[in-house]
Amino acid sequence: MGENSNAFAAVPQARHAMLVEPDRDELARQDFVRSFKAYIQSGIVPGVHATYHGEVKPAFARREGREPRDRHEIRQLMTPHPVFRTYASMQRVSQELLWDVVLDSVERELPALVEKARAAAAGRGGRPLGSLTLDPALPLPNYVTGVDIHCMPGGYCGERGADDVGVGALYDRGVYIYALGMMGPYNDDIGGSAAKFVRDHYPQFRPRRILDMGCTVGHSTLPFVDAFPDAEVHAIDVGAPLLRYAHARAESLGRKVHFAQQDATRTNFPDGHFDLVCSSILFHETSGKALPAIVRECHRLLAPGGLAVHGDLPPFWAMDEFNQFMLDCETWYNNEPYWGAMREVDQVEVAVAAGFRREDVEFMMAPSAYRSAAGHERSFEAGEFAPGNAWQVLVTRK
Ligand SMILES: C[S@@+](CC[C@H](N)C(=O)[O-])C[C@H]1O[C@@H](n2cnc3c(N)ncnc32)[C@H](O)[C@@H]1O
Repeated sequence: MGENSNAFAAVPQARHAMLVEPDRDELARQDFVRSFKAYIQSGIVPGVHATYHGEVKPAFARREGREPRDRHEIRQLMTPHPVFRTYASMQRVSQELLWDVVLDSVERELPALVEKARAAAAGRGGRPLGSLTLDPALPLPNYVTGVDIHCMPGGYCGERGADDVGVGALYDRGVYIYALGMMGPYNDDIGGSAAKFVRDHYPQFRPRRILDMGCTVGHSTLPFVDAFPDAEVHAIDVGAPLLRYAHARAESLGRKVHFAQQDATRTNFPDGHFDLVCSSILFHETSGKALPAIVRECHRLLAPGGLAVHGDLPPFWAMDEFNQFMLDCETWYNNEPYWGAMREVDQVEVAVAAGFRREDVEFMMAPSAYRSAAGHERSFEAGEFAPGNAWQVLVTRK
């Protein structure tokens, strides 16, 4: 293992009533995938790095009299190389294995999970804290349904039976392994870091109503409930099975959230309804049309004095060309069609075009709340995780 392997020390995922509980064999397979992914990062990625910097780049410089221009040119040079091909194949195999091994647990527990979610929605076992509103007539965006994003079977909206919650269960456990636990025991570092960022930068800000867009299973929603306990918190997504799961998960964790199946590009909330609108890793999973539409919708939804905060992985300008190329492997090999393109969008200009005053738009980096609290000060060298212990935040004020 490479010198960064301690960055992937196992932190158990926090339990709650909806989280699948792998049996002994399933756990062994899930642990294997996690170790395999950690090994790729710490044992294989440094070799790809060395191949590029020690062999491919110098050979190109000798031949052409200059360095490779950008990540696209690096890609052309690296894709034929056996070291890179080995890395990319291992990464893809690990990703397919990831979902396979978690699906075993999800399929075994699915009937019980569906029942738990039904009970939460019906308020059996106590009055629900929050609520769940589904809209079966909602048109689902093509860019969401057209691809099994990050190779997750069925994508975000796939349903195989009445009141299905399978995708939610798959995502919750799968993302924990996918992220090697680096987003904390509740998978909530992006929301936690963004909520902390808002509190640190706007200490007087007391939002009455908060909306989390693209909430998936609510990982990033709950930190906002905790950061602003007096606020009414809403969360939307287009995926019904995610929302059923999200609602039951939030209830089991004792958090009050109103979940609704809505499209973030055109919600049914009134103008100026929210003081704080947030999203976490939503932008890179949208499209060239949806992203500006979401920012326009935020402008409509914010009350005067309100704030929108969109967290995502760091932009390309925060890293060198080689790391850009490595990060962009998600676009090419992990069914993330907008991953690279989104990083080339000038989000400040998008916000200005949406109606925000230029002086009220900032593009900043928010330190990872979980990683700094856990003492992981070192950053990754390269790989699917971005270098630096920080998330991007687009902050817009109205
Ligand atoms: C990477 S996940 C977000 C993860 C989540 N925010 C978190 O921090 O755990 C992206 C989510 O955005 C949702 N999504 C994409 N486009 C959307 C839209 N136009 N409206 C609402 N949700 C959308 C997808 O269904 C998916 O659940």
